[in-house]
Amino acid sequence: MRRKLAAGNWKMNGLVDDLREIKALTDAHPDPDVDLLICAPATLIAQMAWARGTHALQIGGQTCHADRSGAHTGDISAPMLRDAGASHVIVGHSERRADHGETDADVAAQAAAAHGAGLVAVICIGETLDQREAGDALSVVTSQLTGSLPASATAANTVIAYEPVWAIGTGKVPTTDQIGEVHGTLRAVLRDLMKQASSVRVLYGGSVKASNAGEIFAVPDVDGALVGGASLTAADFSPIITALENA
Ligand code: PGA
Repeated sequence: MRRKLAAGNWKMNGLVDDLREIKALTDAHPDPDVDLLICAPATLIAQMAWARGTHALQIGGQTCHADRSGAHTGDISAPMLRDAGASHVIVGHSERRADHGETDADVAAQAAAAHGAGLVAVICIGETLDQREAGDALSVVTSQLTGSLPASATAANTVIAYEPVWAIGTGKVPTTDQIGEVHGTLRAVLRDLMKQASSVRVLYGGSVKASNAGEIFAVPDVDGALVGGASLTAADFSPIITALENA
């Protein structure tokens, strides 16, 4: 059995005042039936860890450098995230791949660094609209997953997030058939790549909202969601968590 995971990605949003949303979220879900994770901007991780108190909410970073330390001005290492209170880190988000030129090999190195620091790596993959329209979605995600998964990956330290680039922040969502087809393919690829493949959680991400969460969570092999915009407030994220609990 894979425990479901509702993960928020705050991206470059959030000031100290916004930690009130964490209080509201943990108050609304004191004992959730699913795992809860917020991937916060690095500046908020330590304070978020304090704000959650004894709640089971998990906290993650949004990227990490492949090295443990060194002369990399502005970068953040996996041990630093762990030290600040994170248990997870997103790697290979399409915004990192696009804005910072990160390749599958970079992502695999970052995920390995996360594992080395005792963090769970949330490895993101997903096709662009051009790739989908060309009929290449399945081959693109297969190649991204194969290239981005380090040898250190286990079911305990790795989560995969399928996030079609064209669905992120656009309000466009693939059909449930399209989501099911990709998730089924990813599960089969995982079986070829690692032991315990059937225990790895595979999330869907891209314009998940309260209004579409229920039907997305009903798709076989969808183990939860990585939610951007709708994770920023407790009012928006809470019904998505409830939909996952009821799935
Ligand atoms: P979105 O972002 O929910 O705002 O589309 C998802 C993501 O990029 O992780």
